[in-house]
Amino acid sequence: MPKILIIGACGQIGTELTHKLREKYGEENVIASDIRKLNNDIVNNGLFEVVNALDFNQIEHIVEQYHIEEVYLMAALLSATAEKNPAFAWDLNMNSLFHVLNLAKAGKIKKIFWPSSIAVFGPTTPKHQTPQYTVMEPSTVYGISKQCGERWCEYYNHIYGVDVRSIRYPGLISWSTPPGGGTTDYAVDIYHKALSDGKYECFLSEETELPMMYMDDAIRATISIMEAPAENIKIRSSYNLAAISFNPEQIAGEIKKHIPEFEITYKPDFRQKIADSWPASIDDSEARKDWGWKHDFDLDNMTSDMLDHLK
Ligand code: SER
Repeated sequence: MPKILIIGACGQIGTELTHKLREKYGEENVIASDIRKLNNDIVNNGLFEVVNALDFNQIEHIVEQYHIEEVYLMAALLSATAEKNPAFAWDLNMNSLFHVLNLAKAGKIKKIFWPSSIAVFGPTTPKHQTPQYTVMEPSTVYGISKQCGERWCEYYNHIYGVDVRSIRYPGLISWSTPPGGGTTDYAVDIYHKALSDGKYECFLSEETELPMMYMDDAIRATISIMEAPAENIKIRSSYNLAAISFNPEQIAGEIKKHIPEFEITYKPDFRQKIADSWPASIDDSEARKDWGWKHDFDLDNMTSDMLDHLK
């Protein structure tokens, strides 16, 4: 069993990833960490350490103390929050990555997972079935940090032999932990508001189609790319990954099948421009070919599952 450290374990992805890794590899082999004790469930049900992702010495100390072999670096500022604090977003998203890459370069850890995003694409990227290799001119701070991060991951792999693996997550939808400041967050809020208020005011316009994925699929993809034999991971920047694409009108239509009186209205804000710069759908055939990726959840079974859990 590998010894695993999760940095950013209390966030939207980190929480569910920590649960799954504890279940799979045993509580004694998984060390969850975050900047603060933000989630009682994660803090109280296994090993937990307070770690600032920007503090190299702190990360190194935990890695040595627990003989860590694999690190999942989930700490980041997402797209909408990053636009409000560009300097901090750049600092956090880039320097936390350098810390972990440098620990691997020094031989102190064996394997890294680092999340990238559909935000690496920009307004000049082909919008539909966006290919793995294409024009990438991101126009958000978040996207710029993720694109640079991808380049550094590939560089550390090619030059120093660091085993780093990455996925370009689409918008992620989950019921157990709230999302943290992304442009795709509406697709989580909408379920909560449908149940509590019977209506939702959407910050994106009705026809804004974006690539999305249910958290169960995202966690499965994450663990599966980490468990794949190293020689199967041919792309060391980051893999396109896809499941579903829909717009707000379509998700609202699906919710109405369960809650017929549900109403949606639209009031686009600054996040519309971010969404408009991103792809509508993604071609993830490389991930399917190289490490056997396959999604389970579509819009209809995801909606049933979300509403069942939130009720
Ligand atoms: N879901 C993220 C965001 O909206 C994209 O990676 O920022």
